[in-house]
Amino acid sequence: MLAKLRSLAVLGIDAFEIGIEADISEMLPGLTIVGLPDGAVRESRERVMSAIKNCGFQFPNRKITINMAPADMKKEGSAFDLPIAIGLLMASSQIEIDEPDRFIIAGELSLDGTVKSIKGVLSMAIKARELGCGGLIVPKENALEASVAKGMNVIPVSSLSEALDFLTKNIEIRPFTTDLNSIFNQARFYTIDFRDVKGQEHIKRALLVAAAGGHNILMLGPPGSGKTMLARRIPTILPDLSLDEALETTKIHSVAGLLDTSTPLLATRPFRSPHHTISDAGLIGGGSYPRPGEVSLSHHGVLFLDELPEFNKNVLENLRQPLEDGKVTISRALMSLSYPARFMLAVALNPCPCGYFTDTRHKCSCTPQQIQKYMSKISGPLLDRIDIHVEVPALTYEELSRKSPGRDSNSMREEVGNARALQLQRFSSEKKVFCNAHMESRHIRKHCNLDKESQELLKNAIEKLGLSARAYDRILKVSRTIADLDRSEEIKSQHIGEAIQYRSLDRKLWMG
Ligand SMILES: Nc1ncnc2c1ncn2[C@@H]1O[C@H](COP(=O)(O)OP(=O)(O)OP(=O)(O)O)[C@@H](O)[C@H]1O
Ligand SMILES: [Mg+2]
Ligand SMILES: [Zn+2]
Repeated sequence: MLAKLRSLAVLGIDAFEIGIEADISEMLPGLTIVGLPDGAVRESRERVMSAIKNCGFQFPNRKITINMAPADMKKEGSAFDLPIAIGLLMASSQIEIDEPDRFIIAGELSLDGTVKSIKGVLSMAIKARELGCGGLIVPKENALEASVAKGMNVIPVSSLSEALDFLTKNIEIRPFTTDLNSIFNQARFYTIDFRDVKGQEHIKRALLVAAAGGHNILMLGPPGSGKTMLARRIPTILPDLSLDEALETTKIHSVAGLLDTSTPLLATRPFRSPHHTISDAGLIGGGSYPRPGEVSLSHHGVLFLDELPEFNKNVLENLRQPLEDGKVTISRALMSLSYPARFMLAVALNPCPCGYFTDTRHKCSCTPQQIQKYMSKISGPLLDRIDIHVEVPALTYEELSRKSPGRDSNSMREEVGNARALQLQRFSSEKKVFCNAHMESRHIRKHCNLDKESQELLKNAIEKLGLSARAYDRILKVSRTIADLDRSEEIKSQHIGEAIQYRSLDRKLWMG
């Protein structure tokens, strides 16, 4: 007898339908699975055989062939265990199921027949809804996550026996539902706030400008000056995440297996801070079956690289594609996958190896050569994509205890939102530009006109500070954002003046 079932496989962040056929024939007993890579087949076969026996069924003493289609699609993971086991029992006439293709089935089996959680369930559920089906049978632990894709029955099962009882109508299982809007609204808040940061108002201002124009930012300062604390709070002033954006970010985390079962939806912007020892694959994504890297896990949020000069230069060079295209493409012999990767980049570094070069209260113990070597480790192409540099001063204990709480994230986010609205209008006819940071030369020429006074100021600054041509375009873009925050159509001299201040590194002699 031939049994046919439906399942799903995840490729990148999207799921695809997989047909599973089980057939039995009078040949030497055994189980052959066609359509899975070797290693996965071996493991799946062990689990399926064991689970079947432990649920009180027999492993048929004839030959079973499981065929998974389409054959040319690379399938991975353990989500096919459950449909394979069910197909095998149907093919050997140990159970009978009416219209098994009404359901889409995914789940890993453990040896004792328990159904274990799998990765990428949100993507699967979204696909199942699109395909249309009577229900999606998933591991109980994944039911909450699956239910986030509304508009489809999610049937949670905790064991092979329970799935069989349901499919043979011995028991009823009520579809699992959640109130997506209430999850979204409850989880939309941050537990940290810029109010927690005392003083440092001009750094907060620089971060606000960065957030308002989508500019990447670099913070330079001695240890303990609060760089990490400040960076962590950037997501709290970016515009509220929309539900669609939240779903997209959640899919990536789900595929990476990073979603914790109690948080089915990431409703706040992610903040990722990978250690400087991270590998290429860890940052960009990769592996024999490509996984999303940190750049994708920070999609719609902030990627923070602390202690920038410690990162491997080659690893940093890889940031070029995602910074330019908002996605990464990973090519392997058998496939090429794309993951979204649109994030705001924030980087931090000490000004020298000992950390105290810019600190007026500590003596720096580094030689000029050491400092130059340290700074030259920052990748030039990466620096080219960072519009704003600020020096974060260390506050004394007295300053910290004296200062009252400053601006809070809510009021900052409101300003950011207003400035972003102006930019959306400005670039409404553009396909790839949504904010000032993404402007190319022709946009800059069109939207960043300076009056005489501003031109003069910029010319002087460039000559006096010895700024490069690269710095010139960056200053124009950032001044556009500052003017937007000021709701000013024209870029005025005070806007240019502020933008010039955000080029600390260009002014440092040690940048050569
Ligand atoms: N402006 C501030 N307001 C309140 N607390 C602060 C401020 N600056 C620093 N702190 C306190 O000092 C701690 C250290 O700050 P943080 O780790 O952000 O410094 P850092 O600049 O990242 O240092 P490092 O270079 O060592 O990484 C913070 O956890 C916070 O408790
Ligand atoms: Mg730090
Ligand atoms: Zn030093």
